[in-house]
Amino acid sequence: MRAPLIAGNWKMHTTVREARDLASGVASGLAGIADVDVVVCPPFTALAEVGRALGGSPVELGAQDLHWESEGAYTGEISAAMLWDLGCTYVIVGHSERRRLLGEEDEAVGRKVAAAASGELIPILCVGESLDEREAGRTERIIQTQARIGTLGLASEQAAQLVVAYEPVWAIGTGVPATGAEAGRIARLLREWLGEWFGDAAAGIRILYGGSVTPETIGEFVSQPEVDGALVGGASLNAGAFAAIVRAVAV
Ligand code: PGA
Repeated sequence: MRAPLIAGNWKMHTTVREARDLASGVASGLAGIADVDVVVCPPFTALAEVGRALGGSPVELGAQDLHWESEGAYTGEISAAMLWDLGCTYVIVGHSERRRLLGEEDEAVGRKVAAAASGELIPILCVGESLDEREAGRTERIIQTQARIGTLGLASEQAAQLVVAYEPVWAIGTGVPATGAEAGRIARLLREWLGEWFGDAAAGIRILYGGSVTPETIGEFVSQPEVDGALVGGASLNAGAFAAIVRAVAV
């Protein structure tokens, strides 16, 4: 019922030319794969060029952030309408790097998720605990709070479109992923909570795992019944590795 999704988060990497080459590599590496949704999220500066490079391929375009207002005096910010105008269909919201390094709080994340959904973009809402929080036994509470406040502005009919990415902070960029079993347990909890908040729509929400996913480890995550794919950072910068991850998910 839920189409698997693999999303590549390129973070603050790639010039326009590098982004175009990477996008072309991804598109050609995935020729013939039809049963997995794939999206790449380059930096804002490369969105237009990557959109052109992907033209005609089923790989979709996503952004890494947005502002919650539709326009106005918000220097440096980018709105949902601007992303939509460039051909984006997805947008990452509340990545832990933005939360930790740029002070993005749950309320702002919730406004962004709502703005994305209202702007016809599919939000990929990131949630996840730090190592300190895990060691203090606060993992479930942290994730539940991030997910609840992050989705407060969504109506039930918008919720079915949502994507939630469980990304434990200690697993991001460290080469030490969570175990499949732990990712599966958190995904199950998330779906239970989403069910309390959004009813039947929760069954359609895709839940991803993110944090040091590679072609070697992806199988462990997507074999979990409640894990519908992955948000991939480092490995998405290599077209061959990214395509191998997608291929491992295709049935
Ligand atoms: P990583 O990043 O795959 O490099 O660990 C994941 C992410 O930050 O989304």
